[in-house]
Amino acid sequence: MTQTNANVSTRRATTSDAGALVGVLAEAFMGGPVADWLIPDQSDRRLVYYRYFELVLKDGLEHGHVDTTADRSAVAIWYPRSNPPEPSSGTHQEALERATGSYAPKFALLEEMFEANHPREAHHYLAYVAVDPKQQGNGVGTKLLGGYHRQLDSLSMPAYLEATNTRNRKLYQRLGYLPGPSMYLPTAGPQIWRMWRAPSGFSVPDAFFAPPLPTRQPQ
Ligand SMILES: CC(C)(COP(=O)(O)OP(=O)(O)OC[C@H]1O[C@@H](n2cnc3c(N)ncnc32)[C@H](O)[C@@H]1OP(=O)(O)O)[C@@H](O)C(=O)NCCC(=O)NCCS
Repeated sequence: MTQTNANVSTRRATTSDAGALVGVLAEAFMGGPVADWLIPDQSDRRLVYYRYFELVLKDGLEHGHVDTTADRSAVAIWYPRSNPPEPSSGTHQEALERATGSYAPKFALLEEMFEANHPREAHHYLAYVAVDPKQQGNGVGTKLLGGYHRQLDSLSMPAYLEATNTRNRKLYQRLGYLPGPSMYLPTAGPQIWRMWRAPSGFSVPDAFFAPPLPTRQPQ
């Protein structure tokens, strides 16, 4: 189904969009505090990010819900979550190591920290949202997420995400998310805000405000 909001029309992505959307994810996430923590070396970062986001998008298309725009300039990867997922499989670990090489322990630590602090209540998880850097700041991200939020509202379904900088946190607050206690990546890593969007008429569960669990140090 295509949704049209002003000049941006959105639709569900398929495998034929993968090449373009991996590029959008890799380029949009190329800067920022999490990227600096994960892969300090800039030339390694480009190579590793393209391989990593190929894995991310494949997983989203197979197991989640991926939205994009008609011109493939934006992507949002959602996962409906009703129960804690199966523990990370050996196959996932192997694929992560193949994609990220010597940076795999940091990627694994990030995934582990996100999972340990993930709310247990049923919700939809916004794992990634990215807009082509050339198109950022034009309302594309707001419109892409708005369509999905409307569907969640009609199901009285909450949403959850992790915000990786204060600018994004502001965007998410405008879209109805509330911040809970933040998490910190170890050894001077950046702050990450856990955020919950309750559907209209519902409040944020008390458990969401519990302090985050301690995170182990990178190997
Ligand atoms: C975050 C993102 C998806 C928002 O999409 P967008 O189309 O640029 O956002 P919109 O135009 O709908 O809304 C603009 C708001 O988004 C937020 N924002 C975050 N990063 C931004 C960026 N690089 N450029 C523009 N807006 C950004 C701000 O709150 C901004 O409002 P402001 O201009 O008043 O500060 C997009 O900017 C992006 O891909 N950023 C890099 C990847 C990323 O950080 N993803 C989210 C991880 S939590």
